[in-house]
Amino acid sequence: MLSRIGLAGLAVMGQNLALNIAEKGFPISVYNRTVAKVDETVARAASEGGLPLFGHRSPQDFVLSISRPRSIVILVKAGAPVDQTIDTLSRYLEPGDAIIDGGNEWYENTERRIREASARGLLYLGMGVSGGEDGARNGPSLMPGGSHQAYDNIENILTRIAAQVDDGPCVTFVGEGGAGNFVKMVHNGIEYGDMQLISEAYDVLRIVGGLSNAELAETFAEWNRGELESFLIEITADIFGVRDEHGDGELVDKILDKTGMKGTGKWTVQQAAELSIAAPTIAASLDSRYLSGLKEEREAAAKTLEQAGISSADFATFRSVDKKRLIDDVRQALYASKICSYAQGMNLLKSKSAEKGWNLNLGELARIWKGGCIIRARFLDRIKKAYERNRGLANLIVDPEFAKEMVQRQAAWRRVVGLAIEAGISTPGMCASLAYFDTYRRARLPANLVQAQRDYFGAHTYERVDRPGSFHTEWSKIARQGRAGTGIRS
Ligand code: 6PG
Repeated sequence: MLSRIGLAGLAVMGQNLALNIAEKGFPISVYNRTVAKVDETVARAASEGGLPLFGHRSPQDFVLSISRPRSIVILVKAGAPVDQTIDTLSRYLEPGDAIIDGGNEWYENTERRIREASARGLLYLGMGVSGGEDGARNGPSLMPGGSHQAYDNIENILTRIAAQVDDGPCVTFVGEGGAGNFVKMVHNGIEYGDMQLISEAYDVLRIVGGLSNAELAETFAEWNRGELESFLIEITADIFGVRDEHGDGELVDKILDKTGMKGTGKWTVQQAAELSIAAPTIAASLDSRYLSGLKEEREAAAKTLEQAGISSADFATFRSVDKKRLIDDVRQALYASKICSYAQGMNLLKSKSAEKGWNLNLGELARIWKGGCIIRARFLDRIKKAYERNRGLANLIVDPEFAKEMVQRQAAWRRVVGLAIEAGISTPGMCASLAYFDTYRRARLPANLVQAQRDYFGAHTYERVDRPGSFHTEWSKIARQGRAGTGIRS
């Protein structure tokens, strides 16, 4: 009997996704270059109740064991390994067969591979998969893009293996070309923003508020029962409760403060710059990771500035702040900052969609992020509804419901950011979000002065508020005449 689908690449994600597919009743063939992984996966399938999963040691046997038109998911490291795997498998594939890359791939690589595959009569999907190991095994969020036919061929599988939420499975055909990978990339950028904002909330509560890990665990658990309910808040509450098995106290305090990264956050910020879309909260989260990496430099800087006389704030003076109120303020600051961060991610998607003609449905994307993925959160349902109310929404902040929420929270938000600045606790994500909000909501900005300066030194011209056209002024000449007239020396 032939398998319904194949999967190549049996590291953590591949293994779990294969077991998920088999568990939903779809016979699956699996393959890995290192055969030990094949044996391991087959053994797991056997131990998990005899799932219909079949291991293959040669790429040819693997491909030929799948029913036509074939669909093969590959889950290997992004970049060259994907090309190598495609090369190996495509020797045995036939026209009409499809390759589905489930890695965190750069969208342009997917677009190149779509063209190459199509030259051989093959179909291709670049599919974002989010949710880590647990998501892959029990229900990820899936973001497939590329060939619609390739999607149709496995739609019934994808809708079964994806996370299920109240309004359906967390999968949709995202769009053509590299749309699926691009959407997953922005998901990760938003993930960076969320994690940064949460870490800032932690910092303010811990340093300014003096909360213990136990109190932090309780606070985050409490937040997870309200509007902030989300996977990242939930795991954060858990983290504060984990004790260090090698010593006293909690493990979180023993972890080196240097954040690693694999690159999707950086791509998001690069794309924002390419598209002229402001994404300051996401950029701040990336910068914070870079600065965190300079551990030795930061330690030296702390010493130098201390010697230079910087007085570390006396946090005891801030402890007069009512703890309960501070916790509530930080909750509101976090929520408002998060809305701004999502607004940036959504605008990035909107802009890329227009450039590429992907016709991305932002409401539907918010829906498939409601379950399974790392940024899953209660408030994604509200984002979905905001885009359903108005598909062309300029910015989440001006959706009438979100606008009201932002206004309700701004006093608390300003208190938290003000307190953090006063205490010398950096909150780059919250500050970036607040500045984004304050810039976006102002009808008039000081950009007039920048325009005047540009025209002064570079004759770049400017527009006027009161008449059409572009203008240039001989600024220095007039200024010199003026100075001469007033007797000021130039
Ligand atoms: C997911 C995650 C996943 C991965 C991140 C980590 O959606 O399941 O985003 O793809 O854990 O890419 O990214 P960094 O290593 O860059 O933090």
